[in-house]
Amino acid sequence: MTYLDIESLQVDYRQKNKKHNVLFDVNLQLPQGEIGVIIGPSGCGKSTLLNVLANLNQDYQGRVNINGQLPIEHKGTALILQDYGLLPWKNVWNNIKLGLDIRKVSKEDSKMRNQAILNKMRIADLKKRYPAQLSGGQKQRVAIARSLVLEPELLLMDEPFSSLDALNREEMQDILLHLWQETNLTILLITHNIEEAVFLGQKIFVMSACPGTIIKTFDNDIAGDYSSRGKVEFLEMCNTLRSYLRKEN
Ligand SMILES: Nc1ncnc2c1ncn2[C@@H]1O[C@H](COP(=O)(O)OP(=O)(O)O)[C@@H](O)[C@H]1O
Ligand SMILES: [Mg+2]
Repeated sequence: MTYLDIESLQVDYRQKNKKHNVLFDVNLQLPQGEIGVIIGPSGCGKSTLLNVLANLNQDYQGRVNINGQLPIEHKGTALILQDYGLLPWKNVWNNIKLGLDIRKVSKEDSKMRNQAILNKMRIADLKKRYPAQLSGGQKQRVAIARSLVLEPELLLMDEPFSSLDALNREEMQDILLHLWQETNLTILLITHNIEEAVFLGQKIFVMSACPGTIIKTFDNDIAGDYSSRGKVEFLEMCNTLRSYLRKEN
């Protein structure tokens, strides 16, 4: 049994009695503890796929299993979106502590866990600031910290770094890689960015235009090497991926 196991997934949206097929015959397998990256043209159904895994959409056909469970049964899933979702009236510390408060984690335990994750995300000096006082990159770090402090088993990320500039984006990729190496996290990340896919994705899933399906799965040995950017193998992998995506656009 593969940790993440999607077989013949189909999703249709209904609009004014008309059925609109968004995902068709999607098959995806990702072993536990690996990083998978989905890349594909805009509107091909990437977010729809992630929403099914995150149990935000239960109206689908086919088989979707996370560690042998349906999305609705699986408790350890965290979803990180592009638009952060921070509460403007709470400071960084309290935004991150939110989930721990809801789960009634003890005061000492939650203080320790909060501090540890702030250090890991390199935002300890921002803990008293409010979201309006943060840059986009900083907000994204807080949003990621808020999910990770709950120690999820599966992390779903929907184009998490797409609004960041190139340097911030690479730093976030490095931080994510570091976090992944320290934990047993399984990560499924959506991106538009070819370099990001090659840098992070041990498995890269290329999707076709709508109705979206996975047209190619790459096993990518280069992923997870901090020094890979700019190496010949890295650029070759980017070019291979680019040619697949060109066919789809
Ligand atoms: N709730 C919805 N109702 C109807 N159509 C939708 C809904 N959500 C998305 N769509 C349509 O489904 C297609 C895929 O959307 P989405 O999964 O957001 O694509 P992507 O994330 O790859 O850009 C698009 O054509 C979009 O307009
Ligand atoms: Mg999307």
